Amino acid sequence: MHVDIIILGSGIAALQTARLLPKHKHVLVITKGDLRTSSSYIAQGGIASVTQPKDSFASHIADTLAAGVAHNYEPHVNNLVTDGKTALDALITQGFAIDAHVGLEGAHSHHRIVHAGGDATGRHLTEHLINQLPSNVHIHTHELAYALLHNTAGDIIGVRTTTQCYFAAQTIIATGGAGALYTYTSNQPKSFGDGIAMAALAGAAVADMEFMQFHPSLLYKDERCFGLVSEAVRGAGARFVDDTGDYFMNGQDLAPRHITARAVYERRAAGHDVYLDISAIANFEQHFPTVSAICQRADVPLSTQRIPIAPGSHFLMGGILTDDVGQTSLRGLYAVGEAACSGVHGANRLASNSLLEGLAFGMRLAEHLAQAPAQTNWHLRHAPVAPNTALLPLEQLQQLMMQHAGIMRSGLTLQQLKNKLPIIHQIAPDQAELALAHVTARLIVSGALARQETRGAHIREDYPQQNDALSNRLLIQQQHTIVR
Ligand code: SIN
Repeated sequence: MHVDIIILGSGIAALQTARLLPKHKHVLVITKGDLRTSSSYIAQGGIASVTQPKDSFASHIADTLAAGVAHNYEPHVNNLVTDGKTALDALITQGFAIDAHVGLEGAHSHHRIVHAGGDATGRHLTEHLINQLPSNVHIHTHELAYALLHNTAGDIIGVRTTTQCYFAAQTIIATGGAGALYTYTSNQPKSFGDGIAMAALAGAAVADMEFMQFHPSLLYKDERCFGLVSEAVRGAGARFVDDTGDYFMNGQDLAPRHITARAVYERRAAGHDVYLDISAIANFEQHFPTVSAICQRADVPLSTQRIPIAPGSHFLMGGILTDDVGQTSLRGLYAVGEAACSGVHGANRLASNSLLEGLAFGMRLAEHLAQAPAQTNWHLRHAPVAPNTALLPLEQLQQLMMQHAGIMRSGLTLQQLKNKLPIIHQIAPDQAELALAHVTARLIVSGALARQETRGAHIREDYPQQNDALSNRLLIQQQHTIVR
């Protein structure tokens, strides 16, 4: 089947791009779930945007750079903050209803978190964008894409899914992050970084894969995580406390996530249970309906005023290397949202900058593709496919990633883990999703092994200091090799 543009994924970045592409283009969205199974959909935090008189773009940019620990690409941070506001304002003008209260989250120096429906911003924004999809956008759900198609010149001309091949002049990867490679995650349970893996296998440059952000507060009970307890809960006054009653963050409960996640991790590693004390928040259920529902599902009564928590994977700062409009290193291939690495988040993403990224860069990509060149070479380059072999069972992969490529890492165990992950060159349809998960895992582990320093979300026990020579140095992987 031939279309003009293929979009893989169905989160905010995918939907924002799809709805803004020129209406004469035949756009096909392919997603392995449905339009409501993205990690965007369950995002509780809001959209960071400058709305208050004392706030400014300069302050939002400065906070983003400070959280990113000297590793952001500043021109793209400018695009994020300024175009993000333009995109959000346009949505509000078109009828997207936001809450009156503007919230505060970790490492923001001003109240600038715009919410919709309290802690259900992702759901409200997704529904709004779905309602805005024009008739030139067609949707294929429950269809797994597992390989990109090259023409004889090496350009990307489409995608292979479990049912057929689709050809398009432009293919956009918006498949989100890879949190589900870990046992404990705030992401959707199938967020394996499929699109990143496909792009890497097709030869695209990927960068910063070692930077996986861990969120400090996932509701944790009976050795299971039940979902996120939003940072907005701490923004409203909740504090970390352990089972001895020690408020161990000493008032720094809204420090950047790599600091709070590490502190919670270390408390738990020392044998303590950790909680969020919510006693300072009046009318909790009314302000946090999503968190309240998660507590109810986990059988954690709010009347105890303590929510048991543990850290879990939350957001991948790295991904497919892109420029300011989402162009990757391969012609015909674009990436947007969490699957992309445009350098906006550095080594640690600032809270509520991710939905913003989807809105800003989705808009920029759609505008760019209005002028995109046509493809003339549709000669498919055939690639031999061998069966997927030597794959670990998913649960084992997740446990190994949690243990050795999680919050604290060290060279020895990263190398042992890498040795267990096969080098995959092509994906066969049988067990394709698990094979893609292995590819993404190997990219993360390889990056984590190669970055011999501690910076932001990447914490090496054997290299505990930041190395200034590596500031703003992207670690780029291509064709199974660290190229820079
Ligand atoms: C949260 O609600 O704590 C997460 C928000 C975010 O990751 O931006």
